[in-house]
Amino acid sequence: MKVLVTDPIADAGLDVLREAGHEVRTAYDVEGDALYDGIADAEGLIVRSGTDVTTDVLESAPELVIVGRAGIGTDNIDIEAATDRGVIVANAPEGNVRAAAEHTVAMTFATARSIPQAHARLKGGEWAKSEFLGTELNGKVLGVVGLGRVGQEVARRLDSLGMELVAYDPYIAESRADRLGAELVELEDCIDRADVLTVHTPLTSETEDLVSDAELDRMEGGYLVNCARGGVVDEPALAEAVADGTLQGAAVDVFGDEPIAPDNPLLHTENVVVTPHLAASTEAAQEHVASSIADQVLAALEGRPVANALNAPSIDESAFSRVRPYIDIAETAGRIAVQLFDERVAEVEVTYEGEIAEEDVELVTASALKGVFRPLEWQVNAVNAPRVAEERGIEVSEIKRHQAEDFQSLVTVAVKHGNGKEMGVCGTLFAGEDPRIVRVDGFRVDAIPGGRMMVTRNADAPGVIGLIGTVMGEYDINIAGMYNAREAYSGEAMTVYNVDQSVPEEARQELEADERIISTRYITLSDE
Ligand code: NAD
Ligand code: MLT
Repeated sequence: MKVLVTDPIADAGLDVLREAGHEVRTAYDVEGDALYDGIADAEGLIVRSGTDVTTDVLESAPELVIVGRAGIGTDNIDIEAATDRGVIVANAPEGNVRAAAEHTVAMTFATARSIPQAHARLKGGEWAKSEFLGTELNGKVLGVVGLGRVGQEVARRLDSLGMELVAYDPYIAESRADRLGAELVELEDCIDRADVLTVHTPLTSETEDLVSDAELDRMEGGYLVNCARGGVVDEPALAEAVADGTLQGAAVDVFGDEPIAPDNPLLHTENVVVTPHLAASTEAAQEHVASSIADQVLAALEGRPVANALNAPSIDESAFSRVRPYIDIAETAGRIAVQLFDERVAEVEVTYEGEIAEEDVELVTASALKGVFRPLEWQVNAVNAPRVAEERGIEVSEIKRHQAEDFQSLVTVAVKHGNGKEMGVCGTLFAGEDPRIVRVDGFRVDAIPGGRMMVTRNADAPGVIGLIGTVMGEYDINIAGMYNAREAYSGEAMTVYNVDQSVPEEARQELEADERIISTRYITLSDE
């Protein structure tokens, strides 16, 4: 398969994909038509922060299965648009945390001790020793905004240098802050008390300009460090606060527009130290994130679960082998149920019984939904199926029972209308590996799910199966297998046929013309 890489990543990642037999194309700094053309036939896309993965990009990539972000921040990827199109978005959230934390510490020292400014003066031939009076970090207060992976690592490092810690993060438990010896406070308090304020939040509508004029005014004499995302701190306001002496200095690694525009005021303010989005740029970090994202792209292309998928159900690799067969069974059961149902689907209920009920079944339920929605010609896969259900107002429920009557594990997909009508189809594995449909609308069957099937309801009377065989023969349809189930002697029976050819409407009409045939339904388990 084809994987397009539009921002530089370490060879370690490219090699993983090439060794697995994929065609890896690198095209850095491409945008507009060049990007749209490059991605037209790609199944995988790998980016860092330099590529904006917009709706237009996604629309130009009909084959795309996964967008992999070699790093943490995904603010350059339209995840909603990807989800709508069933494209997985995954990142590599662990690999560069230490590098980002170390750079933040370095930037804190750089600004508090004016290292770049002094360096430039000395290189220019000036011994300006008396002009630089730094701030000792020991004993000062560090305010951390966003106590996630990077924020925590920064807090640990600066704590060991004797700083007192306060933190603002409305989404964490107090215990996380306690473990670090940090006091969890409100944003205003954090800003008021911090001598050095360091931001480590993602860029979201909530964090955009989180630190602006009003917040900077409260930081009289302090320092601000931003190695998270441009946009979290208002850039003109920061430049002004440093220029007019409200702040002693600032250190910034990330900018609203990257590469930074030459007239950005941060570039022209003496006590603002800048680096060009370098926090993750260490050899070790780049190798980690490249290998991690390549592994995930590989998994997606091979239909395996993606460890850090942000918009798709993910599952532990070790549990996947136990759950995997039920993913297919659930999809099959969903496909059969919806094709036998004559009503509008208002609810999908997936019931897990026996051993499978012990597992994480999010992916199995998503697959059941895919099975239900696919015959309705809705463009779905396991990524967007839950979203499609929500958008269409279809209620989805999961039931788990730890005992399964007669079977080790049983998965039932029931489609319901809400008027009491429903159709349930149960599937299981025989001998741990052979998929079987074992119940259809309450009838016990033993059907091998396969490409084309016909399900008939008929009177349990002599000659009916013979009639069906004769009509099938007239239309040149080969019956590859059949299973007959009945309510009671002389009652109603259900027969499930595996057929090698599709069953035309005329054949079904001919069968239904016989008063002993109650209904016939032709089912396909593929997208034919
Ligand atoms: P994370 O998801 O582990 O942590 C983010 C934290 O921010 C979370 O604890 C979350 O609760 C908190 N948060 C969210 N909204 C908030 C709000 N409104 N106010 C306060 N806190 C809020 O992410 P991370 O891995 O620690 O990364 C942090 C940031 O650093 C991200 O923006 C990431 O993109 C960036 N980053 C930059 C570089 C770089 O090269 N400059 C490298 C790595 C990470
Ligand atoms: C990240 O979010 O991981 C960083 O921006 C690192 C990067 O890709 O440069």
